[in-house]
Parts: sequence; C-alpha cells; structure tokens
Amino acid sequence: RGTQRINAAGELEIGGISAVALAQKFGTPLYVVDEALFRENCRRYREAFGPDNRVVYAGKALLCTAICRLVEEEGLYLDVSSGGELYTALAAGFPPGRIYFHGNNKAPDEIRQGLEAGVGRFVVDNLYELTLLDRLAGDAGRRQEILLRLTPGIEAHTHQYIRTGQIDSKFGLPIATGQALAGIRQALESPNLKLVGLHCHIGSQIFDLEPFREAARVMLGFAGEVREATGWVIEELDLGGGLGIYYVSGDDPPAIEAYAAAILETVREAVRERGLPLPRVVVEPGRSIAGPAGITLYTVGGVKEIPGVRLYVMVDGGMNDNIRPALYQARYEAALANRMREEPATPVTVAGKCCESGDILIHNVHLPYPVPGDILAVPATGAYNYAMSMNYNRLPRPAMVLVGDGRAEVIVARESFADLTRNDRIPERLWK
Ligand code: LLP
Repeated sequence: RGTQRINAAGELEIGGISAVALAQKFGTPLYVVDEALFRENCRRYREAFGPDNRVVYAGKALLCTAICRLVEEEGLYLDVSSGGELYTALAAGFPPGRIYFHGNNKAPDEIRQGLEAGVGRFVVDNLYELTLLDRLAGDAGRRQEILLRLTPGIEAHTHQYIRTGQIDSKFGLPIATGQALAGIRQALESPNLKLVGLHCHIGSQIFDLEPFREAARVMLGFAGEVREATGWVIEELDLGGGLGIYYVSGDDPPAIEAYAAAILETVREAVRERGLPLPRVVVEPGRSIAGPAGITLYTVGGVKEIPGVRLYVMVDGGMNDNIRPALYQARYEAALANRMREEPATPVTVAGKCCESGDILIHNVHLPYPVPGDILAVPATGAYNYAMSMNYNRLPRPAMVLVGDGRAEVIVARESFADLTRNDRIPERLWK
C-alpha cells in the first residue's frame, strides 16, 4: 500500500525508510504517516470531484499543524469540529475562508472564535445554534454563510456508534418531522446569516455506495420542496464523509473515483428530475484520506504462551493509542516489520499494556513466532487513532513522524512525563 514495501534486509520500508530504523531513531509506539499516500488520497479526491465541487478534509480523523499544511498545499478545504481543531488550523496558517465549522453543540466562545477568524462556513446543527449564531454574527458585524445540517433518515450499515443519518440522532434537523423546514424558514429570516446550502452525514466506514446515492436523492428531493415552499434555491449540497477503507481481508471498499462518480451522477439525475440548478457538491472525507496513510509501530515485550489456549504478544502501546478495537470491535492486520520475509505461521493475540482486559489490539493475527524486541507494524491506523488517543494509566502519547522520499520528520513530539503533570496542581495545604 502506498510507499510501503519490503527492503533488501527483509524489513518493512515506508516512504523509503526502514520501519526498524524509524523505531530505533524515534522510539515506539510510533505513529508513522506516509506523506505520499496522504497527498495522493487528497489529489484523487480533488480530481474525482473536479474544480466545481469541494473536498473538505475532516480534521477529526487526524489533525495536527503539519497535517493542516499538507491539506492546504493539496488545495482541500478543512472541516473542524471544535475550537481546538479550529485553533490548530489557524496556528498552521490554514486560510480561514476554506474552513467549515462543524459541531452539534458549539459553545458561544467557539462561535465567536470562528466568527473572528472569518471561517468560510458554519454548519449549523440545530435551532438553538441558529438563534445564537445569528445574534453573535450580528455582534461581530458579520453576515455569516451557513449550511444547515439535516438528518435524511437513512440507515447506513455500519457500527451503531458511527451511524449518524437516522432520525433518532443527536445530529441535525430531521427532514421527516418538519424541523428541517422550520430551520430553513428561521435561517432565511435571520438577518446576519446567509443560507448557502444543506448538509448531511450518514455515517462512517461505509462500503456500499447506495446509501450515499439515497442521501443525495433525499436531500435534493427536500431541496425541491423547500424551493416550492419558500423560493430558496440550494447552492451547495454537502454529503459529509463516510467512505470506508481496507482494514482486514474481506474488506472491499469502493475506490474514491467510483464513490465520486456515483455521487455526481446521482446529483445530476436528481436535479434534472426536479428542475433545480446543479448545486456545488461538497464531501468531507476523513478516514479514506488519513487512514491508509498511517502505520503504528510497537516493540514486542512479553510473549506469553498459554499452552493449548493462546499466544499473547504484548506491545508497548495499546488502547491508549488505538481505542478502536475496544470501542468498536475494530479489526486490524499486523506484521513483524523486522521479519517481513518469514512465514507468518503463528496465530497470536496482540495485547496492549493498559490495565484493562479489554485492551486487546488484535484478537487473531498470524505472525512469525514473535520474540521480545520485534517491531510490530499495524497498518491503516492513520484515522481516529492519534485523534482519539488518551493518557489512561498516564501513558504519554506517542510521537508522530511524517515520512517520504527517505526523509522522516517529527510532526508531533512524544509526550514526556513532565507533559503528564503539566496541568496538575497541588493545593498548598497538601504540601508538607
Ligand atoms: N463529516 C462529518 C460531519 C462527520 O461527522 C464525519 C465523521 C466526517 C465528515 C468524516 O467521516 P469519515 O470520512 O472519516 O468517515 N471515531 C470513529 C469514526 C467517527 C466518525 C465521526 N464523524 C471511528 O474510529 O471509526
């Protein structure tokens, strides 16, 4: 995948550098980002959707200042979903006009932060936010362009925690209950807001293109009704993110190009049927850009064989750097980066180092019989891994390096123990 290959020494190589050398130089656990693959995914999206449409990288998948630079250089827009993500983007010099500001409960301070920065779009989630944003935009002397987030009532077949398009969702205004139309009327009456378009996001890690087509049809069908009821004409249709990626054998996601073609074709058909002008199409991919470009490296520690039961391979990270197996039963493949040419004949269970029985990274994977000191590489860990990492057991977060053309550069420094106590305070009465 990408620039990953096996070198003459039988080691995994990423971006022209041996993973074993990366582990030695930067330590483990280590997040490695394949710059060429990240950029290629951005480029494929941009080419597939063309210059009339917009590709908005969903920063929630993987964000730090260097990633913002790559996204900017590749000409994409950026979806931020909190004040922290917005701050990160601005710190990296990302052009505010190319930022979409998401979130189902933006705090007044976050809204002010977005208004002051001059973000291109707010994606407004509910009626309360609509009222609040109109008032704060007025205070800031701005007329803010917005999209209204709707729930189209589509069930995508994915894990229930990452399903978002159904009516019973904390996100968006349901079309079916009339609240979407009420929201549009309110937006049109808000003096400090300009309603540009409609947004929906039906879920994540989706392999079937039909729910995306269905979402486009439902949204444009609704846009047709809105035009009849109010005269407002949709300029921008944002269908969110959600395209799935390969994690384990059997996963068969559609190509970015097939996804784009399905969406663009459906939008063209739907507007023709309803006599609507062709809107600008916006998509917000996160996982399908960052996911395949990330590889996590661990060092094998203890190897514990319970005869006739299981071989546990313990690594120096775990659920704190990758919560997805524990949270979603997510599955991953793995390889020993220092022994790529050896037969992966031994079934093992990869366990993390957190004090939690559920901290199992991979329940069953075949490796050469592992020994302490081996470097375990877990691919497809670029999206929602670092982004969801935590300090359980006061484990410092791993470093992240960007690799390409034989270069490796730290883009997030490894947390130190001092970082862990940086915000701790001891009340004076507890000192002795
Ligand atoms: N746009 C909106 C409004 C979203 O809520 C999301 C993801 C995206 C775009 C990007 O979706 P993607 O292309 O990455 O599927 N933590 C979960 C995934 C949560 C997705 C949340 N929203 C996981 O690790 O699987």
